[in-house]
Formats: sequence, C-alpha cells, structure tokens
Amino acid sequence: MKAASAGRTDDLRALLGDDALDRLDADVADGSGLPNLAYTSPAWLDLERRHLMFRMWMLAGFDDQIPDPGDAMPVTVAGCPLVLVRQRDGGIRAFHNVCRHRGAVIVTEPCKGLAALTCPYHAWAYGLDGAIRTRPHFYGGGQHDLTKKNDGRANLVDVRCETWRGVIFVNIDGQAAPLADHMAPVDAHLDGWAPQPLAYGGSLTYDIAANWKHVHENFVDVYHKFAIHPELCAFAPLETSNPMAPIADHLLKTWHVIAKPHEGRGKGLPFLPGLPDILHREGRMFTMIPTCDINLWPDHLVFLVAEPTGPGTTRETIHILFNQAAMAGQYDQTRQAVFDTWDALNREDIAPLESMQHGRASPGFDGGTFSPFWDPGTHFFARQVVRLMADGMP
Ligand code: FES
Ligand SMILES: [Fe+2]
Repeated sequence: MKAASAGRTDDLRALLGDDALDRLDADVADGSGLPNLAYTSPAWLDLERRHLMFRMWMLAGFDDQIPDPGDAMPVTVAGCPLVLVRQRDGGIRAFHNVCRHRGAVIVTEPCKGLAALTCPYHAWAYGLDGAIRTRPHFYGGGQHDLTKKNDGRANLVDVRCETWRGVIFVNIDGQAAPLADHMAPVDAHLDGWAPQPLAYGGSLTYDIAANWKHVHENFVDVYHKFAIHPELCAFAPLETSNPMAPIADHLLKTWHVIAKPHEGRGKGLPFLPGLPDILHREGRMFTMIPTCDINLWPDHLVFLVAEPTGPGTTRETIHILFNQAAMAGQYDQTRQAVFDTWDALNREDIAPLESMQHGRASPGFDGGTFSPFWDPGTHFFARQVVRLMADGMP
C-alpha cells in the first residue's frame, strides 16, 4: 500500500491479502472496496478501533445536552464507555466512565446538577474533575476514606475533549492534531457560515445488522437514492446531485440543489442563523472518517454516527440540531416533521444495508466493481480507512 510505511501494513496485509490492498490503490475502474473480511472479522474490527477510532476525533455529544455545572451524560464511543461532565467553570471534560475500584460503569444515564459522580457498586465518589473524593467503609465498617489523599491511581482517567460549533468530540488516545485543524476543511466548505449557537433537537437511534462502514458508505453513495428514496429525489433529484468527493484525507463532501423546499426540508422552520444565501438553496453533506456524517439543510443540521456494536452490527444515531428560535412550541409539529422525514428516509436504507452485510458472507463477492462517476467516493472511503489505520500503527 503506497501511503503507509513499510512494516506498518503487515497486520493489515496478512488479514486482507495483497490483492485487496492493490485494488484499493488502483484507479476506480479497476479498483474494489474492502474485501468481505473487513465487514465480518472481529480481529479486523479490533484493529479499526485501536488504530483508527481511538486516534481520530470522534463525535460524543452536544454542548447543550449538558448545559449546567454537574450535568453528566454517559456515551459509548468506539466501544468505550465515557462520560461527559459540565464543570463548575463552564468547561466540559470527558472521562472513561469506569470506576477505578472494580471497573463498574459509574454514570448510567444522563444526570443534572451532580455534586459528585458516585459509583453504584461500592459508592466510591469522584469530583466533577474526576478526582477521588470519598471511599465509604474503605478501611472496614464505619472506617471511611475521606482524606482525598491518593497517588492519582484512583482518579478517573481523562479523555481529551474539544468542541467544534457546539459539537463535543473526543480523542481517546490523546495524540490527534487539534480538533479545529481536523474540522477546518468542513469550515472551508461552508461558504463563510460563521459558528452559531444551535439547539440540540433530539436523536433517532437504530440497531442495524450491518458493519459500521456500510452505514457510512451508504451515505457516501449518492447514486442509490433514485432507486431507494423516491421522496428524497423529488426535492433533491439525482440530476442536481453530485458524487461525494474527497476534500481531505479523512473527509468527503457533496452538495445538491434543493429543487422544492417542503416541510421537513427547508420550509416552515426558521433557517439556521447566519446562513449565507447560497446555503438557503443547497444542501451540503460531509463524511468524516470514521466518526460521522454531517448533513446541512437550511433549517436543520444533522450528525449521523455509526457506532460498531460488533463486526456485523451497528448502532446508528441521527442527531438533529435547529435554530434556537425553532425550539419554540409553535414549531413542535414542524420539527417533528423533520424527524419523521429522517426516520422514513433512514428506514428505507436499512434493508439494503443488511442485505449488503448478508452479501459479505458470499465467496462470490470480493469488494465489488464501481461506477466511474458515482463510486470514486466509496473507493476513497475504503482506501482511507486502511491508510489512516496504517498511519496509526507502530
Ligand atoms: S466498582 Fe465502583 S466502587 Fe467498587
Ligand atoms: Fe439512503
């Protein structure tokens, strides 16, 4: 594989085979996507987690899901239980949501205004800063540890955490370049749209019997919408759509002209604040490897996350943000129409996703053949998953 240093790809090569790596590097006409094993193997998923997902910035939540000091929200990112905690100074910190005593998960549901994070198993309590505070009956019945003196081994383990436009990202290995650098190519393709406070409107969640990459590749695949999504085509037809194209090593972008705004897609809600005129008439979409897909419509902003729950299973979450003014009661029905539109659209995709996963059991499929017009993005996605993994290998 050209982009990776010698030796780095040995594990990948041993699992996938030389032919598969060569087809990732080939021109799209001669190329293929990843072979079946990359969609079915627990060992491959383990490599993806350690060498791709732990290294990259991963979406974890939204600023206004934890607005006040002591608000805490458990999340799972790349299989890791984490907790996001609003600090007294207004900052946000992330920790591994795992007790330093016997490893129980500490915060199991979103909480408001906590003074401490208390483990449900033996009630060890941690400050909002993750430092251990009290250990009841630590030295025997009635003999509590209240000294707060420890060598740090009992403090919660920090996870690097930064925000972009109110979206909370984590970098589990702590070594990534600053989040602002990671997101700069997205900012550069928003026609000068400045960061604005938006309101988190809610999420839709689906458990899908397909590998996490299928979910993102389906988002990259603009091509399928004429066959699967007739309603989407009515206001964003294939003729005014464009294939996904790379804008950075970890990012693809596409856009489409909004032919016919209607409720749930650019009609009836206040538009996002400060949008430049061109974004009143166009949708913008980004796929960020491996974290999330971003979908910008004039009246809402969507983040789609594919969290692997196994090699052949994914928990997909669609988060939707609105103009803060659109959260008023008078817009309840119109906001619901946005959720209903996304729900209907997403359900149209589930059967094809699960059928592609089923297809990965076939020795008659080896990564496929591509449309030279629509599929370069799919080819790029597969290639970059491997290249970015290889870059992260020792
Ligand atoms: S496992 Fe958390 S207090 Fe024992
Ligand atoms: Fe689709």
